[in-house]
Amino acid sequence: MEKFVVNGPCRLNGEVKISGAKNAAVAILPATLLVKGVCHLDNVPDISDIREYVKILKSLGSKITYVTKNELIIDNTNVTSAIASYDLTSKFRASYYLLGALINRFDDVQISLPGGCNLGARPIDQHIKALEKLGATIEVKRGNVYATKKSKLIGTNIFFDLVSVGATMNAILASTLANGVTTIDNAAKEPHIVDLANFLNSMGANITGAGTDTIKITGVEKLVPNSIYSIIPDQIEAGTFMVAAAVTKGDVTIKNCIPKHLEPITAKLKEAGVLVDEVSESSIRVRMNTAPNAFSIKTMPYPGFPTDMQPQMCVLLSMCTGTGIIVESIWNSRFQYTDELLKMGADIATHGSTAIVKGIEKLYAAPVFAHDLRAGAAMIIAGLVAEGKTEIYHIYHILRGYENILEKFNSLGANITHEKDDSEGDLNG
Ligand code: EPU
Repeated sequence: MEKFVVNGPCRLNGEVKISGAKNAAVAILPATLLVKGVCHLDNVPDISDIREYVKILKSLGSKITYVTKNELIIDNTNVTSAIASYDLTSKFRASYYLLGALINRFDDVQISLPGGCNLGARPIDQHIKALEKLGATIEVKRGNVYATKKSKLIGTNIFFDLVSVGATMNAILASTLANGVTTIDNAAKEPHIVDLANFLNSMGANITGAGTDTIKITGVEKLVPNSIYSIIPDQIEAGTFMVAAAVTKGDVTIKNCIPKHLEPITAKLKEAGVLVDEVSESSIRVRMNTAPNAFSIKTMPYPGFPTDMQPQMCVLLSMCTGTGIIVESIWNSRFQYTDELLKMGADIATHGSTAIVKGIEKLYAAPVFAHDLRAGAAMIIAGLVAEGKTEIYHIYHILRGYENILEKFNSLGANITHEKDDSEGDLNG
């Protein structure tokens, strides 16, 4: 089995450059299908989710050229297929964006139900509701979603029952080329929603209000790319390094980030006593030299505290003076990683959607699992501060979403190696 071995403890020092945002890129890649032509993207993160998306697009007929590992030219002139097979879509969640993107171009679309991080129930009822309101017929059977349309989609009012990033993205994708005006109420406001809208607008779409509760999309006939589009920096990768700097009592400057997007994280770190300074429009410095104060968090849609930073913050909370509370309000199964932190000596009690975290003196290395992408990031952070060699298994989760993660941590003074051992089974057995 492949593993990361983190030799702790260490203190992180130096500068790190953040990559492009995974959750923007996984929407923007399928969004290129709205164009019967060539799109040029930059700051695309080189992570396994993107490599999988490239395979899916190629299977549909896209021609994709890598100018560099982060710069792609995608030619969708000859996309001929609207069937994405299980082999390709099962690996990650964001393959459902193909529904909204392909239904513009084809009358019959078939997508196998997506996989992705195991965070609990992941219904797609709001995606289906949006597409049906726009005039598509959706059927879910035998593990596939079938979307069909008899004529062009027609603009409409969509009121989401809950705030969903994915459903908002899919509604934008499906309505950009529809006839007439679509309004999306109770829309998600995450930075990656705004990035998708900016990308589409850069090619002639007419989308206003992205980043607010109400998004208005006036359908246009076609999109015409006219320049290279650079994907925004990854909010969660930046947040992960911020927390790692704080937990290790380090001094790290995080470059190529958007401080505004980091505000919910910065606010909590400051509450814990971490020094966070905006040193420029695109970089922040994070310093810590005492034990953090206890704090509490409740995960919420943006601009609330991001669920994707919850496991990393739990490691910081474990090193606090006092007791803090985490309430997870987005995913119903996001505390599996706490079992791994318990193995390392953490003091965490979970009750449903709540975790009570008592600060402890030290964490100790142990063999642990990355239960999902962000849980994996939390295991690395825990390993950085723990005494001894922390072995992290199931690292494919981490590689889905963090570009060059070992190189980046090691350049800050960590000692992490990527190794293979002979064990084959699941140690959870
Ligand atoms: N939900 C429904 N019905 C739907 C859609 C969502 O009930 O049709 C529920 C979900 O079960 C969840 C809540 O609504 O309880 C929010 O889900 P959302 O749709 O916002 O999540 P998502 O689009 O599937 C994205 C990110 C996740 C991130 C969440 C929340 C991508 C590809 N994934 O997922 O990112 O946790 O938003 O911010 O953008 C990650 O990057 O590690 C990750 C898991």
